Formats: sequence, C-alpha cells, structure tokens
Amino acid sequence: MKKTIKKIQKLKSEGKKITALTAYDYPTAKFIDNAGIDIILVGDSAANVVLGYDSTTKISIDEMVMLTSAVGRGAKNALIVGDMPFLTYNISYEEALKNAGKFISAGADGVKIEGGNDYTIGLTKRLTQAGIPVMAHLGFTPQYINTIGGNLIQGKDFETIIKILDAAKKLEEVGAFSIVLEMVPKEGAEFISKNLTMPTIGIGAGNACDGQILVINDLIGKFDDFSPKFARKYFDSKNMIINAAKKYIEDVTSGNFPNDDESFSLKDEEIVKLENYKQN
Ligand code: KIV
Repeated sequence: MKKTIKKIQKLKSEGKKITALTAYDYPTAKFIDNAGIDIILVGDSAANVVLGYDSTTKISIDEMVMLTSAVGRGAKNALIVGDMPFLTYNISYEEALKNAGKFISAGADGVKIEGGNDYTIGLTKRLTQAGIPVMAHLGFTPQYINTIGGNLIQGKDFETIIKILDAAKKLEEVGAFSIVLEMVPKEGAEFISKNLTMPTIGIGAGNACDGQILVINDLIGKFDDFSPKFARKYFDSKNMIINAAKKYIEDVTSGNFPNDDESFSLKDEEIVKLENYKQN
C-alpha cells in the first residue's frame, strides 16, 4: 500500500520508527520497496556514489530527474522524495517551483531542500501551498559545504541546538512534513525530535530521531571513496563485484564460459550441412 506523508507522520505519533534509504535506479528501488522501506530519497548523494563527482554541488537537475523517474518506476509503495540539487531552488521561488514540479512529474511524491534561512522557509511555504510536500534538511547540509567550511558536525552546543530547533519549528509551521537531521550530536537530535511534531529522520544524529536514513551505496558497500562514521555496512558489494569479475575473466580466458547450457544449438541436420559445405 502506498505510503503517504500522513502515514509517515502517523508513525511518529504512534511511536514507531520510520525507515528511509536512498536509491538512484529502478532495480534497487524495486528491491528496497519490496523489503518494506517507508521512504526512498533520490538523494543528491548520487553525485558522489553514482556519478563519481567530487561534490554534491556538481549534479544537475536533469541528472537528478532522470534518476528519480527510474526510482519512480521501481517503487510502488514507498514515499519517494526527490532531492533538489544545488542552486535549483535558491535563485527564485518561480524557478524553484518549476524545478520541484519536474521531480513530481518524474514520479516523486515530494522534494527535499536543504537549509533553514528566511528564503528556504518562504520557499517551503510556497511549495507546500502549490501541493508539493517538502522534506526539510538541517544540521550538516552538504550543499553549503563551502560556506560551512568542511564536513563538520553541527549543533555542538546548547546555542546551536536551539538555533536548529528554531529553524526546524519555522519550517514545520510553514508546512514541511518531515526533516532530515544530519551529523548532529545524539542528545541534541533527541531534544529537537521531542520538540517537533513533524518526524525527524536522522543520519549521523543518534538513534532517538523518529527515523533513520542511510545512503544505499554505503549500506551495501558499493562506494569506497570515503565512509562516514555513521554508515553501517550490511553487505560487501565492492568485493562481490570484484570477485565476480575476476572469476568471469578467468572463465572466459580458460574457455570455461559459456558452456553448452549457456549456448544455443543448431539441429543435427543443419550441422551436417555445415560440415559438408565447401567454400569456393
Ligand atoms: O543526498 C542524500 O543522500 C541525502 C541524505 C544523506 C539525507 O541528503
């Protein structure tokens, strides 16, 4: 059954944890949807883990929309959220609305936008009024890495936790349906979660958040350029792929692949004709 924003919010009010993962392609979306995941985020982390860019700021709206449409075809039940990439929502509300609309047309049920300044709060209101559900994102916001000054934990003291909470409350008031909290100390994330009605989805923010999200390629060990402390690896795709490729190379070079079961055969009489055929 399709998960809606109301159903996701109900999980928090019932004290049930919300599960979220990223996905960027049709089969992965289909498999994690079958596994019962609540939310699939087509994250701009695709920039790093799928397309090999060195920063999330480098992925384009067209690339993100293409990945979202593949995920949309794969996932039938999970709530699908498209991550609006760098500068596709910060120039003007009009442009942001058009770009958010592209995600919805591609199959997303909502969009995620990073930040909690006055502009982002106003935009969250506009998008929500236009019928586009917004997932907010505070704490470490990767698209602001250059102004933050690095991959840094956010909310390390009372004052900054209160700042995050204040911004989150404003985003909630204007209609955000949930919020990602990234790289926030666990006690701060717990305090923020308890003081919001909308669900918090943590990543590197301890286990008191209302839900958790991880990048699928970290979960299945399919990205090794860097590995954040909070990324739990459940599977070693990297070595499984390397070992499968090595075995394949061995089988092809030794003549062991393909075998008869993996080949098509002619009927005996056609083979005889070939054997008797003499070229001029
Ligand atoms: O892009 C992404 O994958 C994200 C998650 C880490 C929340 O924003």
